[in-house]
Amino acid sequence: MSTTTMSRAVRRRWWWTLWSLLTVLAIGITAYFVPPYLVGNTNIPGLDMTIPGYYTSLVIHGVPAGLALLIGPWQFVPRLRARFPRAHRMAGRVYLISVVAAAMAALYSAAVTPSGFTLQVAFFGLVVVWLYTAAQAYRAIRRGEVQVHRIWMVRNYAFTFAAVTLRLYQLVGLQLMSVMPSLEYSAVYESSAWLSLLGNVLVAEYFIVQRTLAPLARRRSSEPAEALAQQ
Ligand code: HEM
Repeated sequence: MSTTTMSRAVRRRWWWTLWSLLTVLAIGITAYFVPPYLVGNTNIPGLDMTIPGYYTSLVIHGVPAGLALLIGPWQFVPRLRARFPRAHRMAGRVYLISVVAAAMAALYSAAVTPSGFTLQVAFFGLVVVWLYTAAQAYRAIRRGEVQVHRIWMVRNYAFTFAAVTLRLYQLVGLQLMSVMPSLEYSAVYESSAWLSLLGNVLVAEYFIVQRTLAPLARRRSSEPAEALAQQ
């Protein structure tokens, strides 16, 4: 086996391992956090039922957001996209509609949340970038710009996936609280929200460079100089 073939095989194995981890986490977080809102369960620890419309906004937010989280990973599988292009388009539409509905509801949840100003800023920021990246992805595909669409969808799903990383960081923070008694829950919640937002952006940009921009650059640099001169 040549070195190039081997490194391609290693990269492919890596990609599937990461994809599987992402998918399992997306399913796990949705399965754990969304069902109470699906069945109208108000007996949720920490939920403030005295705030008008807060619970309703979480239902309208959490259910489509969970759907987007579940649909996302399958849209990135090249073989599925190639074999079932119509299913990819349909699922893509459901994903984008879910993101818009969940973001609109999150605007209200963020406005009335009792969790404090720092979190409100993080949530409003997330809503803006969530909608902006969705709009860019949609615009790109309407124009037939497949690579650009792909890049914006990676960015968009990174924000969707912030719901997963937020809860993972919170879990770590809760463990830290048991060994650091001065650490308050609000600090854990706030730092987890910001870390999930910024961390996911960095990971998404890394993937965009590694999987889309670097191969394009390699292909361009291996093109004969004459072909480049004609462009
Ligand atoms: C990426 C954009 C997102 C934004 C801006 C956002 C915003 C919010 C806000 C403001 C709250 C209320 C939190 C509080 O009052 O402390 C919330 C709660 C919630 N969100 Fe999101 N969210 C996003 C993504 C998601 C996703 C992808 C899911 C899918 C699982 C999700 C599921 C939930 C659930 C279930 C709650 C209720 C609280 C809980 O039980 O943990 N959110 N979100």
